[in-house]
Amino acid sequence: MKVTEHSELSRINEQHSKYIKIIDGLCVSVMTEDKPVLMRQMFSYFTEYSKSHLELEEYLMKKIAYPGYDLHLTEHQALRSNLKTVFQNFGFLDRQSILNGLLEIKNDLISHIRTADMPLINYYKEQHKL
Ligand SMILES: [Fe+2]
Ligand SMILES: [Fe+2]
Repeated sequence: MKVTEHSELSRINEQHSKYIKIIDGLCVSVMTEDKPVLMRQMFSYFTEYSKSHLELEEYLMKKIAYPGYDLHLTEHQALRSNLKTVFQNFGFLDRQSILNGLLEIKNDLISHIRTADMPLINYYKEQHKL
């Protein structure tokens, strides 16, 4: 069976690439745009995107009875919480502080992908002999 036939796995991989692009786009907007409504919409979109991505991984972990589920979930909760904090403070913070928050989220996300998502993906591949 090919990896592409495993739709959840390929969706997760695609979402990781897009996830980083969305954060980069948001960072650029925060530094250059002067349209709070537009930025709020972008934040909203990013939050929704995060929600569906994290839920997809959690769904997949449950489906395959992933042994690292609890630890992985704890990291997701921390990501959700950090994102919520930046989003809630969006209207009160200056550009540099919003940017710092976003860059911190981006770093955490990259680190999470490397140390938690990749082991999950590898586990899935091993289980399914991919
Ligand atoms: Fe994850
Ligand atoms: Fe992920």
